[in-house]
Amino acid sequence: MELALNGGTPVRNQPYAPWPQYGEEEEKALLDVLHSREWGGYHPAIKELEASFAAFHEVPHGVSCVNGTVALEVALRALGIGPGDEVIVTPYSFIASASAILLCRATPVFADIDAESFNLSPAAAEAAITPRTKAIIVVHFGGRPAEMDAFKKIAERHNVAIIEDAAHAHGARWMGVPVGGWGDAATFSFQSFKLITAGEGGMILTKDAKIAERCWSYCNQGRKRGGGWFDHFSLGTNYRMTAFQAAVLNAQLRRMPEQTAKRAANVAYLREGLREIPGLVLPEEDPRIGQHPNYLLTFWYKPEAFSGAPRDLAVEALQAEGIPFKLTYPHPLYRNPLFVTEQESLARSNWSAAQDYTKLRLPVAERVCREGVWLSHTALLGEKRDIDDVLEGLRKVQTLASTLEAKAGKR
Ligand SMILES: Cc1ncc(COP(=O)(O)O)c(C=O)c1O
Repeated sequence: MELALNGGTPVRNQPYAPWPQYGEEEEKALLDVLHSREWGGYHPAIKELEASFAAFHEVPHGVSCVNGTVALEVALRALGIGPGDEVIVTPYSFIASASAILLCRATPVFADIDAESFNLSPAAAEAAITPRTKAIIVVHFGGRPAEMDAFKKIAERHNVAIIEDAAHAHGARWMGVPVGGWGDAATFSFQSFKLITAGEGGMILTKDAKIAERCWSYCNQGRKRGGGWFDHFSLGTNYRMTAFQAAVLNAQLRRMPEQTAKRAANVAYLREGLREIPGLVLPEEDPRIGQHPNYLLTFWYKPEAFSGAPRDLAVEALQAEGIPFKLTYPHPLYRNPLFVTEQESLARSNWSAAQDYTKLRLPVAERVCREGVWLSHTALLGEKRDIDDVLEGLRKVQTLASTLEAKAGKR
């Protein structure tokens, strides 16, 4: 037997589940909108989506918008966050979680993550609070809900707002309460790879009618609901999603429970198999997680189980076997050049630095960027035999890892 990377036959030749998934429901919904000749952001499909997505998360208000980045920006603005304010955020996320803060000319303050959940550590976040802190953005990374009971207590103790960035976490539950029901506002993304998608799209959920109104108004040129088209009461913009997006999303939302259940069953099966295979460690499940939609699994890579092979090479070998493991983010957010340039620009506008991003060191976030491996939701949407291939690929690469090293040495 030889590794595919060394010219052997791969464990798997077939792709995993195609994404996005769609069927007659999406086709019909799209045609209905087309035939209505009402394609913009005031079609009834949009109200339907806002109501059903909010109900799905057991909160009263949903406001749709063009994407998840904008959803975060709108939520921050609706909470009155702007220049001089600090917002605490995880460094282990997509850029939008932090850039939305900069878009409001507020200051991102990074705090470290927890090594088990890969989510912002409540203790680290609390330690980063200063008199200028106005909010904490809590990302439910990979779909695993963050410790929201702890964040809620921190918010109460320090009078700061909580925004849940639930771009990965549609339908997740923590201690029985869906995401979206913990913070002052929660934001979602419907971008192409997300758990429900229309290619692009976003949503803000909130329990607070006033926050919902401010979000809606900002996305609708400062209008008031029910007010005149040319009557503008505050500064806003046009962040509306189209009726085509809402139509697809209504159908996608109906698919979600079945897909979530399928992924959960496959992850349970994968966990069982991994007990015999030591090299990729998936943190333990937490009984407080009521539902985990399994958007993205992060594993710790253990080189000793791969004859000391470096992570990147082992992942390359797994991919060559047809198993879609991926490398995590290459670095925490604050290592992006953006933060160096923004630091200078914020400083010019009388900003007193909460953190020098160039000197910042958050050890857990940095370690997971070096030692983490991802497996995404599409690999978890198939049958048991698809998971068997994941396990088989891992076994094969571990068994033959010494040949991998020999080859690597020759490169
Ligand atoms: C955690 C997180 N927040 C926000 C976003 C932004 O969403 P969008 O791509 O819809 O702007 C993403 C996108 O991948 C994300 O991963």
